[in-house]
Amino acid sequence: MSDTISLERTRALARISNLDALYAEADRLAVTPGWIKREKPVLWREPKSDFLPMHWRYQPIKDALEAAGGLIDVALAERRNLILRNPIPDNSFATTRTLVCAYQMILPGEMAPSHRHSSHALRVILDARGSFSTVNGEKTPMETGDVVLTPGWCWHGHGHDGEEPAYWFDGLDVPLTHLFETMFFEEYPDKYEPVVKVAQTSPYRFARDAMASALDKARPEAEGLHGPRIDLDAPDMRLMGLSMERLEAGRRTRRQRSTVNRLFVPVEGRGETIVDGERFAWQRGDCIAVPCWHWFEHRAAADSVVFEMSDEPLMRFAQYYRFEVD
Ligand SMILES: [Fe+2]
Repeated sequence: MSDTISLERTRALARISNLDALYAEADRLAVTPGWIKREKPVLWREPKSDFLPMHWRYQPIKDALEAAGGLIDVALAERRNLILRNPIPDNSFATTRTLVCAYQMILPGEMAPSHRHSSHALRVILDARGSFSTVNGEKTPMETGDVVLTPGWCWHGHGHDGEEPAYWFDGLDVPLTHLFETMFFEEYPDKYEPVVKVAQTSPYRFARDAMASALDKARPEAEGLHGPRIDLDAPDMRLMGLSMERLEAGRRTRRQRSTVNRLFVPVEGRGETIVDGERFAWQRGDCIAVPCWHWFEHRAAADSVVFEMSDEPLMRFAQYYRFEVD
């Protein structure tokens, strides 16, 4: 080390002779002392999600979408949807920390333009006859009770050959893409992607009847954590957990909590979900959000089928998965 550098270091150290000088120097170096008291600590004992447990009712949102049908042109707006924003401060969009949901409507004869984005998406079709998705040039039906996937970066647009407005539930991992800062988005060059193939079956479509047959063969979970359930395999959407669960009238699942963010959409039946003591009485089409580390249990009042989307595979992959049961 040269004498000049050594002298400069000695002077710099002399300058940092008290804590105020040290903090000023830390600012100058763009570092922060790890020992200072923070308004929000860096580490804490157990998860405490900012996001609230929530219940959105399908029927009034469906009515609002019907009204939007006369006010919003889907060719201009791209999508006529109402987003399930969790009502916490400074949140304009997300439903839970990693997931966002919406209800969407398309009118007979309309076409929602094609686009693609990094985020993975799915649709649970609530009331539709004759609507369809075009995914990477393949036109597949979207009928009531179906689940349709649009993995990240697949071109996708929607259309409707039927007679009545079509309604569905959208679920995406956009908040996760925002968190990772990995969003890409592109509109289709000619607005509407041409159909190159029409297919009734597709790895991206889970038809209602096929899921019902699979559920007939499924068994209830031995510990009473959930009813007969099938996983919807989505190999191109590995970090999202998708399942369909049957809860026969009278079934109660055990009270449980985990580090997973969960969204439940009953597609048949009625019942209630109790989240941290708060009772959400649901009907078909509603959405219940159970954020990370909140206790929940289901009670079915009628024979019910409940769709679930979650970030469970992500939590398991990260080795952040924890689970407790009463
Ligand atoms: Fe999209």
